[in-house]
Amino acid sequence: MPHANRRRFLKWTLGGFAALTTAAVAGGVGVSLIPEVPDAAITPWRTAGQGQDVRERALSYAVLAPNPHNLQSWLIELVGDDRMRLYVDRSRLLPETDPFSRQIVIGQGCFLETLVLGAGLVGYRCAVSLFPQGSFGADGIDHRPVADIHLSAGGSADPLAAAITLRRSVKEPFDAKRLPSEGQLRALTALSTADVRVEATAAPDRVARLRGLLYEGMEIETRLPRTYMESVKLMRIGSTEIAQYRDGIDLGGGMIEVLGRAGIITREALADPTSNSFQAGLDLYKAMTDGTPALVWFTTPGNRREDQIAAGRAYQRLALSVTQAGLALHPMSQLLQEYPEMAGALKRLLAELDSKAPERVQMIARIGYGPEVSPAPRRDPATLIAPGPKLSMAF
Ligand SMILES: Cc1cc2nc3c(=O)[nH]c(=O)nc-3n(C[C@H](O)[C@H](O)[C@H](O)COP(=O)(O)O)c2cc1C
Repeated sequence: MPHANRRRFLKWTLGGFAALTTAAVAGGVGVSLIPEVPDAAITPWRTAGQGQDVRERALSYAVLAPNPHNLQSWLIELVGDDRMRLYVDRSRLLPETDPFSRQIVIGQGCFLETLVLGAGLVGYRCAVSLFPQGSFGADGIDHRPVADIHLSAGGSADPLAAAITLRRSVKEPFDAKRLPSEGQLRALTALSTADVRVEATAAPDRVARLRGLLYEGMEIETRLPRTYMESVKLMRIGSTEIAQYRDGIDLGGGMIEVLGRAGIITREALADPTSNSFQAGLDLYKAMTDGTPALVWFTTPGNRREDQIAAGRAYQRLALSVTQAGLALHPMSQLLQEYPEMAGALKRLLAELDSKAPERVQMIARIGYGPEVSPAPRRDPATLIAPGPKLSMAF
């Protein structure tokens, strides 16, 4: 069940109060007192801005960037005393649902944008050189760096940076009746640049067609064992796993905790297409796609790695401005994924969005008014910093 709405998931999974009670007794814990995400997993949201040198301080913000499946596939090499180099952590990829690592590279763009904004908050500016040893090929990524970053004094805070610690991917149904205003949608599309076109719609007929397609994409991914299992393996069930891994798809809090401990919610149950848990995941997605008053999408002129980075940077800037406007945002990427079983649905999406090759829709996200949600887990920023010689030649 990728990206759970935990409360609904529970309601549908259990199918009855009796089961809840039995499980609560079996778990022997105060259900309502267990938070969805344990404190230990979200420390970086509280300690952002701290660090021994300016690079660590900037990195402490960068790790809060949105990224696919919360894998946090970033590695940093510190070089000299004012430079660093960003690599993809190739032990954290999604080969089934992201076979060319397009989304992983978008996540690098989100990271770079957040790094630049974070550096500004601590008074530094960043000069970013993309792919200093050449770009990755279209088929996959390799050992070469994504970017060299040089920090120098004289930076200033971009107003958007104030939202870095407040931004969330809101994986919940939104208020379907409360639409973002036309002015708000215009403000989103005004974030388009020469590199990335941003479009949005709240037109009821179009949104209804897109909702149907988004759900179809989710169903294709979920019913295909190899793509669905990629998500199942990344599920962290209960506070112990969430605090241990601090990544992936976190399923915790309240009754999930109890049912996890009681052995009712397990990875095996979630993977079994005949189980309540499996169906609950699909029902949940239906509730989310139904609870979608408007959509926003990001298109680049081509699909080079530089385009993907630009899309990630634009997505994060939009996410921060949306946060400041009090709106909720939630990417849904299934339809955009490049495996054969998704090809037909992707084609229909592109027709609906009136998008033609060589341009590429890189992201699509639900937007509207949603509930407040917990921050997602993050690993300690220090764990991203790898010893230089293992990664590359000298700067
Ligand atoms: C390229 C990209 C694709 C994403 N696709 C999805 C998606 O399909 N479904 C979803 O629930 N979240 C998606 N997300 C959001 C991530 O799951 C989210 O950023 C991550 O779990 C961390 O949570 P946070 O954004 O609240 O910090 C995507 C994010 C990025 C950058």
